[in-house]
Amino acid sequence: MAITRLACSLLLLSTHCCFTALAVVLKSNDQSPWTNEFESIELSCLIESISTNNPRIEWKKIQNGEPSYVYFDKKVSGDLETRARIREPATLVITNATRSDTADYRCEVTAPSDQKTFDEILISLVVRVKPVVPKCSVPKSVPVGKSAELRCVEEEGFPKSQYQWFRNKEEIPDDPKTSPKFFNSTYMLNAETGTLKFSAVRKEDGGEYHCRARNDAGHSECELQMMEVYDINITGIVLAVLVVVVVLLSITVGICCAYKRGYFASQKQTGNNYKVPAKGDGVDYVRTEDEGDFRHKSSFVI
Ligand SMILES: *[C@@H]1O[C@H](CO)[C@@H](O)[C@H](O)[C@H]1NC(C)=O
Ligand SMILES: *[C@@H]1O[C@H](CO)[C@@H](O)[C@H](O)[C@H]1NC(C)=O
Repeated sequence: MAITRLACSLLLLSTHCCFTALAVVLKSNDQSPWTNEFESIELSCLIESISTNNPRIEWKKIQNGEPSYVYFDKKVSGDLETRARIREPATLVITNATRSDTADYRCEVTAPSDQKTFDEILISLVVRVKPVVPKCSVPKSVPVGKSAELRCVEEEGFPKSQYQWFRNKEEIPDDPKTSPKFFNSTYMLNAETGTLKFSAVRKEDGGEYHCRARNDAGHSECELQMMEVYDINITGIVLAVLVVVVVLLSITVGICCAYKRGYFASQKQTGNNYKVPAKGDGVDYVRTEDEGDFRHKSSFVI
């Protein structure tokens, strides 16, 4: 079986060799190269065999299924015009890669004097982008036993960022059960979304938190943020409620009194205006000092 296979491959290899004498054949040092943004990268396209003297060389960029020319008629064109050049025979060198360069590139060589006149090779370029400082949200204070959600998000990184959380600068393990220090903690950590979710916080969960977004290109961290965990004090709550009730009662009583006093005062005034002569109750009017007129009148009546 193995021997038959070996014989077959040898046969294939020899026929391949015979035909390549008059064929254009390309190869590449790296068909899946990557670089970091703003660095240089070469898309290697090497001519392994050719008989034609002046082959036609073209590069196309294929993004979202749409091909566009990058190198045509011995000139670099489009977005890469100022950032790329050809290195003999057909390698495309990008000097300052940007994130929009992430795409498939096709090197095509046409050699009219060869028997097999055309070959092409596909290169998939990835331009990695370092994460920027992530946006972190940490609740400032949480009562013991309540749930809490800490979030960390970063959108620039490529490939997409993964997240790590730290408490007091110590990394929080994905699974609390793997560490004696975090063993009783109730959190779930999602490294893909950056969410750290406690179903019931404990006193020990309080501390300074921060998050790190990272990918192959690098990492970036947000500032430390304090999460305070406080006890719910039942006596305190009862006292507070009592105080609120007392205050509300006092206000209600106060309003009632004020209303009643106001009500009587106006009654008295209208009474004065209309009933003074008829009633002739002198004592009342003497008490109201601002109504000297009536006092005199009443005195007179008496
Ligand atoms: C690369 O390009 C970016 C903008 O696209 C520019 O800010 C930077 O200066 C360039 N770097 C070099 C070395 O040319
Ligand atoms: C976890 O809880 C158990 C039972 O409540 C306790 O015995 C143990 O000491 C706790 N471990 C830590 C690390 O707090």
